[in-house]
Amino acid sequence: MSGYVLAIDQGTTSTRAIVFDDGYRIKGVAQQEFPQHFPRSGWVEHDPEDIWSSVVDTVRGAIADASLSASDIAGIGITNQRETVVLWDRETGKPLHNAIVWQDRRTSDLCHRLVADGMEPMITEKTGLIVDPYFSGTKIAWLLDHVEGARTRAERGELAFGTVDSFLLFRLTGGRVHATDASNASRTMLFDISANEWDDDLLGLLNVPRAILPQVMDCDADFGLTEPGLFGAAIPILGMAGDQHAATLGQACFEPGMLKSTYGTGCFAVLNTGMERVASNNRLLTTIAYRLGGQTTYALEGSIFIAGAAVQWLRDGLKIIDKAEVSGPLAAKADAEQDVYLVPAFTGLGAPWWDADARGAIYGLSRKTGPNEIVRAALEAVCYQTADLLTAMKKDWSRAGDTTLRVDGGMVASDWTMQCLADLLDAPVDRPVVLETTALGAAWLAGQKAGVWPGMEGFAARWRLERRFEPRMDAVTRGRKLSGWADAVKRTLTV
Ligand code: G3P
Repeated sequence: MSGYVLAIDQGTTSTRAIVFDDGYRIKGVAQQEFPQHFPRSGWVEHDPEDIWSSVVDTVRGAIADASLSASDIAGIGITNQRETVVLWDRETGKPLHNAIVWQDRRTSDLCHRLVADGMEPMITEKTGLIVDPYFSGTKIAWLLDHVEGARTRAERGELAFGTVDSFLLFRLTGGRVHATDASNASRTMLFDISANEWDDDLLGLLNVPRAILPQVMDCDADFGLTEPGLFGAAIPILGMAGDQHAATLGQACFEPGMLKSTYGTGCFAVLNTGMERVASNNRLLTTIAYRLGGQTTYALEGSIFIAGAAVQWLRDGLKIIDKAEVSGPLAAKADAEQDVYLVPAFTGLGAPWWDADARGAIYGLSRKTGPNEIVRAALEAVCYQTADLLTAMKKDWSRAGDTTLRVDGGMVASDWTMQCLADLLDAPVDRPVVLETTALGAAWLAGQKAGVWPGMEGFAARWRLERRFEPRMDAVTRGRKLSGWADAVKRTLTV
């Protein structure tokens, strides 16, 4: 059988499909952006039909770009934006409403109520999560409460819920398979990550009927075959993981203590803690890193909502840059005397603050402040937030102490930002040769399941460093900058 594997990477703002060969080289790629909907302040939606058509188009495009046909592909791995919810009709496959995206804050009041009612310790104990609108559970409850007739139809078993992976799987298999994987399930706030099953107490608390839930499988499982009519031949779907989990795999962070951070729309740092489920005392998440062959590996995760999105805002909102690539060079020219801080709480603040109601703020402006200082503040904000996550990780787990950070995602192309990250973390930052780690992780799941790619050890041995950024900043400067940041965050928080 061929060693070609296709990854579907369904992200927050775009969908990519990539065909890799068995040397992990990209043979074909296609990408498509799709519309974002903001019906009200703090609300974010996607049309699931846009997501679906972007997946079909990009899979076809990537196979064509590789000059292959569907029958040459040994398997598909799906990776996806997590937590985003879709509710659809099992019979027709039609969604009942737009997908509610992970960034959406509409269930903030419900979350406040759950916390006020003293539910958070129980929820955290079972799911490893904080009570926040970020996760799927309260979003499903919202859909069942607000879409006319949805709850009754859900109870009758006529509807299906899924995160994006599950919706895509249902569509790709022609409605035959309604399943998800353990990593995506662990982000719903309905899944007990120790028992590895949907939890009746949580379902009861949010009034979600069990009948709408997908079956939870390992990340490398036989998820079914694609409808032959879609791509010209049936392709086995053999891998599935939430995008941050797939990036953890793609970075070969298989050993306890290994840490990766992905800089996409947001920034997500995932620390492998092995078979140990480490509870956080510092507002990090405990999550399923991946489940392979029935064996669960856990992680501590720090989730930041705005990373690359801050650069997008500089470009599309403020319009002080015309493309992302100029941000690093402009930041390098910023006045070193000015300490300007941007707290990018555009959709609230995630870990370790979890303040859904906070909004963005800039501090330290003077008459001398210009675009360069604002750009630097935006890039530094991403680094400061990563530093906050690492500090929390070190407090939570002694083995996080001397870890090196493996980075990936669009922003890591900026040398300036990576140097700034190493400086503010006071730790080395490793940038790999292959930066498509999310897609590669999904492809690896499918490739090794198909038997055409190596297992963990062989895969890890092929991870290659492109450049290591060593910290160069003196301790006094670092201390001054970090305490300025801490002060800016304190002034921005609403809780
Ligand atoms: O938890 C949300 C995350 O999965 C989204 O990732 O890469 O689409 O910003 P990304």
